[in-house]
Amino acid sequence: MKIKILLLGRFGRVGDALFKTLSIMPGVDLFVFSSYSLSKKHIWGNNFIDINILDFVALKKEILRIEPRIIINCAAFTNVDEAERKKSECWNLNVTLVEKLAQLSSSLEAHLIHFSSDYIFNGNSGPYYEDAKPNPINYYGKSKLASENIILSKLNDFSIIRTNFLYGNSDLYNPTFVNSVYNNLKQGKQINVVNSLYSCPVFTKDISIGVKELILQQFSGIVNFAGPEYLSRFEIALKICDFFKFDKNNIKEANISDIGFEAKRPIKAGLNSEYAQKKLGIIFNNFSDCLNEMNFK
Ligand SMILES: NC(=O)c1ccc[n+]([C@@H]2O[C@H](COP(=O)([O-])OP(=O)(O)OC[C@H]3O[C@@H](n4cnc5c(N)ncnc54)[C@H](OP(=O)(O)O)[C@@H]3O)[C@@H](O)[C@H]2O)c1
Repeated sequence: MKIKILLLGRFGRVGDALFKTLSIMPGVDLFVFSSYSLSKKHIWGNNFIDINILDFVALKKEILRIEPRIIINCAAFTNVDEAERKKSECWNLNVTLVEKLAQLSSSLEAHLIHFSSDYIFNGNSGPYYEDAKPNPINYYGKSKLASENIILSKLNDFSIIRTNFLYGNSDLYNPTFVNSVYNNLKQGKQINVVNSLYSCPVFTKDISIGVKELILQQFSGIVNFAGPEYLSRFEIALKICDFFKFDKNNIKEANISDIGFEAKRPIKAGLNSEYAQKKLGIIFNNFSDCLNEMNFK
């Protein structure tokens, strides 16, 4: 019998990569909840269920009907600046939804895989290991930490995957910093890039292969998924420039105070992924190696 996996957030950056990996994983019956499904059901198949995942009555009914063995939550409110203005929207998606999923996972004895962020840390001393003490400095980070705490208090069988700055390809174009740098430099435009905001850039395809491995090895607990290099935004932009042989003079170094972000950001964020590599054998590739696989539009 096939194992039923339910995916939420399929058209997000991580969800898209996961969909591609899990939909061809042997022995898996993949179900998807997305508000994009109805009009395109003929393309995406019967296991696409058109649902507003924030309608918690409908969510419960559908999950109890499907009885998944694994629930993967990639849905989230991810706009860090907007989260400061739209606090209740952010909380509903990042915390209340997770609480409902944890309750349902508990009653079905399902394994919940949830994504969290390096923004649960204050950014004074990254890259962070799994056991570092969280101390978020913006609302998005607070909501992600609250989601972790709910899972820790309600479930024994769960995976919390913390990740950080990510980039990759997606069916519905979800541009990241990497796309924006590429597009501007390709057009010969000058860009100001902050010389801090450190993280460990990770390719969404590597994340998806990591999730597959975690499922196969029946992992439970907290684990970091992050790339092997520790880079500032400026260094990331320079790598893109080098790779595509764009004009370096078009990248201007800026201080974080010059950018005027709404939300405070952890300066030395990022995650150390030694544990995922050693314990689970997951490989996270270098940034420049993955640029080869990007389909820039
Ligand atoms: N992006 C990053 O750099 C980053 C860094 C660290 C951690 N993370 C974490 O990684 C996870 C995945 O992030 P991501 O970048 O892939 O997210 P994303 O691209 O912003 O996608 C999030 C998905 O959430 C769903 N969603 C958003 N708003 C919704 C709403 N109002 N109602 C219902 N569904 C809604 C949508 O799913 P559908 O497509 O199904 O409609 C959307 O595609 C999140 O938990 C995030 O906190 C991301």
